Amino acid sequence: MDVEEFTADLTTRNRERMKETVDQYYNEEYFGSLGDPEDVIANEFPYRGWREFFFGCLPANRQISLITEQGDPWHRDRDLVVGLFKQIRDEVKHARIYTNLAARFGAETDLATWTPDTYDELVAQGNASMNWDAPHHISAAFQCGTEIQAAFMTENLADYLQDYYPDVARSLRDIVADEGDHVHAGRLTMHRFASPDEFGRLEEISQTKYEAALASLVAHTEQ
Ligand SMILES: [Fe+2]
Ligand SMILES: [Fe+2]
Repeated sequence: MDVEEFTADLTTRNRERMKETVDQYYNEEYFGSLGDPEDVIANEFPYRGWREFFFGCLPANRQISLITEQGDPWHRDRDLVVGLFKQIRDEVKHARIYTNLAARFGAETDLATWTPDTYDELVAQGNASMNWDAPHHISAAFQCGTEIQAAFMTENLADYLQDYYPDVARSLRDIVADEGDHVHAGRLTMHRFASPDEFGRLEEISQTKYEAALASLVAHTEQ
C-alpha cells in the first residue's frame, strides 16, 4: 500500500465511523431533550462555535508551524501553507456564523471568555488533534481523522432545524460545504510528509484522536 492509498483508506474509515457515532449521539432525540428549537440553538450554537474556532484553527496553525520547521514553506510546501491558511480562514468564518446565530437567539458568545460545560473533555479532544510533532501526524488525527465529525454534527443540526428555521439551516449547510477543502489540505500534507514505515504510528494517532472525540461527544450529549 502506498501513502496515497493509505491516506484514502484512513480517511474513509474515519468518515464511516464518525457518521455512525454522530448519528448515534447527536440526533433528533438528543435535540428534542433540550426543549424547543430555540433552546437547541441557544444550547448548541455557542458550543459549535467554540469547537469550530479552537478545534479548527489551533491544529491547522500548528501544522503550518511544523511545516516551517520540517519542510519548505517558501517553495515546495507553499501549496500546503496556502491550503492550511484557507482552512483557518474558513474555521473563523464558521465560528462567526454560529456565534452570530446564537446571539440572534439570545445566547451571546464571546469566544475569548465563553467556557463550555465539558471543557476537560474538549481540551483532551483538542490536544489529541494537535499535540503531535509532525505536520502529517496532525493530518492523521485531524483532517484525515475525525474532523469530519464537525460536518456530520452540523448536518444533523441543519436537518433538525430545516422546518423551523430554513434560513438558519441554509447557513449551516454552507459550513458543511467547506469541509472537502479541509480534508484536501490534510491529505496533501500526508502525501508530502508520510512514508509507509509510519503507517502503524499514524493508525495509532488516528485511533487516539477518535477515542478522545467520542468521549467528548458522549460527555456533551449525556450531561
Ligand atoms: Fe469548520
Ligand atoms: Fe473544517
